[in-house]
Amino acid sequence: MKEVLALIEKRKQEFAQLPLFKFMQDKSIDPQQRLAWAPCVAPLAMNFGQLNKYDFRKEPTDDPIQQIINRHTYEDDHHWVWFLEDLEKLGFDNSIKFSDVLRFLWGKETYKTRQICHQIALHTFRCEPIVVLAAIEAIEATAHTAFTMTVQVTQELQQITKQKYLYFGEHHSHVETGHITGTDDVKQFLEEIQLTQEQRAKVFEVVEKVFEVFTEAIHEMMAYVEKHHFVQLMKAS
Ligand SMILES: [Fe+2]
Repeated sequence: MKEVLALIEKRKQEFAQLPLFKFMQDKSIDPQQRLAWAPCVAPLAMNFGQLNKYDFRKEPTDDPIQQIINRHTYEDDHHWVWFLEDLEKLGFDNSIKFSDVLRFLWGKETYKTRQICHQIALHTFRCEPIVVLAAIEAIEATAHTAFTMTVQVTQELQQITKQKYLYFGEHHSHVETGHITGTDDVKQFLEEIQLTQEQRAKVFEVVEKVFEVFTEAIHEMMAYVEKHHFVQLMKAS
């Protein structure tokens, strides 16, 4: 798996260069505006719990890799609760018609983000645990990159609002280590796994797919934030 972990690290470095992350680091922009894409995360944050609970987790199991996956899913299946709390603190919890919420969640502006969990579930369906584990490592790499950026913005925002942000702030980033969680010395364990040619091909494919779907969603959020100014958004709702 050593070369798979190297590929994930390479893709992670590229992922960190996306325009939305540059935008978030631009201190000349109001910190609230730098997080104006937060509602777009809804399909990801809400489906991600389900992906962990109903797709990745398989119990009971004797397979040591599936056991690692299962332990990890118990950490990652409930972070959407923090997301809902942050939406309120960030000022997005205004009165909005239920039908308009549905239009937004199933609309064009969140299409790519809706694809993340869907595509990952399709690409890991009935796969060997090692393929799922590789997908999780790639997901964790993207999460680590994104939350490293959001933590900086929420720290600035906290100075103004005196609010603590659970999902976009330090609370979440402390448990998103960038790697699969719940198992000691997991990095060494992963590095020592020898893959067959067939496994290697499948694992590389799934890693590339994970970065592809996350990259497209991040571009989509950037397009959203360019169109929706935070103040306008508040007025509209
Ligand atoms: Fe999380």
